[in-house]
Amino acid sequence: MLETRWHVLGAGAIGSLFALGLHRSGCTTTLVMRSDAKARFLAVKVEREAHCSEVRLPAITSQDRAHISHLLVTTKAYDVQTAVAGIAHLLDEHCVVLLLVNGMGLARQLNDAWPHLDVYCGTTTEGAYTLAPQHIRHAGRGETRIGRSGQGEAPAWFGQWKQVTDNCLWDSDIDAALWSKLAVNCIINPLTALHGCRNGELAENSALKSQVEALCDEVATISRAAGFAAVADTLKPTVCGVIAGTADNRSSMLQDVSRGRQTEIDYINGYLLQVAEQLGIPAPHNRSLLERIHNRAP
Ligand SMILES: NC(=O)c1ccc[n+]([C@@H]2O[C@H](COP(=O)([O-])OP(=O)(O)OC[C@H]3O[C@@H](n4cnc5c(N)ncnc54)[C@H](OP(=O)(O)O)[C@@H]3O)[C@@H](O)[C@H]2O)c1
Repeated sequence: MLETRWHVLGAGAIGSLFALGLHRSGCTTTLVMRSDAKARFLAVKVEREAHCSEVRLPAITSQDRAHISHLLVTTKAYDVQTAVAGIAHLLDEHCVVLLLVNGMGLARQLNDAWPHLDVYCGTTTEGAYTLAPQHIRHAGRGETRIGRSGQGEAPAWFGQWKQVTDNCLWDSDIDAALWSKLAVNCIINPLTALHGCRNGELAENSALKSQVEALCDEVATISRAAGFAAVADTLKPTVCGVIAGTADNRSSMLQDVSRGRQTEIDYINGYLLQVAEQLGIPAPHNRSLLERIHNRAP
């Protein structure tokens, strides 16, 4: 198998985890840092249970001369467009860009701005959080699905990804996988963020339970009309299963809101609302969540 050179844009929790995986799988892996970064090499440390793995990886910025042929993007959704624009001059004409970012609509945005890029999408249930820059804890193992809308066969570069992370699949229906994650996130993320609760409380508190029910109905209606009937049919049990399976977790949106950070809601509920509007379906519960997250006190 041909070795591929990957650059990782967004060396936070998920970026550091996958940078270590890419390096270990034998790919030459380079971190792409913000333009004011000085270090030419960075130590990436990943703690997992009682072990800590550490590798030194080369680091570049937009000021460097580089040819990027394969780019993994792991910024937050709201940073993708600006981050890619900042290094667009380093990207090969048909650069493979793999977006491992929550939310939807980003591949379309990139392809509108740079039609020559070869954009793929991924979704992961790996869990990681940052302890210090490029020093992370890998808190939970999960599954990673990669694909491209309308593409059944995996491209040659995907062969190596089976070694990057334990559980990585090519998904010939990635749109359904992304939509399924979006549908669940539309419900759990903003509710936990607004009520300051762990995921499990959504099943324990009767007022929150009825909000989950109402949101499931609304998201299922939009999902069905958008062509994701299978997601719609199983949404309630899927959401209940995720709530039960992650009962102790604080959702990423809750963490962002608690720290006064920007959230990814425009790419989650915001994207769902755009689709609902195009289809002429009212979505008052999702609109209210979006507005309450936008208008929350700092
Ligand atoms: N963490 C998880 O367990 C997990 C699980 C599944 C999915 N996800 C999704 O994965 C994505 C990444 O999440 P995360 O938790 O890894 O976020 P994160 O820790 O905040 O990492 C994002 C990284 O991108 C960097 N970045 C932003 N703009 C940049 C630019 N212009 N140039 C270079 N670097 C730039 C940030 O740098 P600064 O620190 O300087 O801003 C930060 O290091 C999100 O969409 C998230 O929802 C996360």
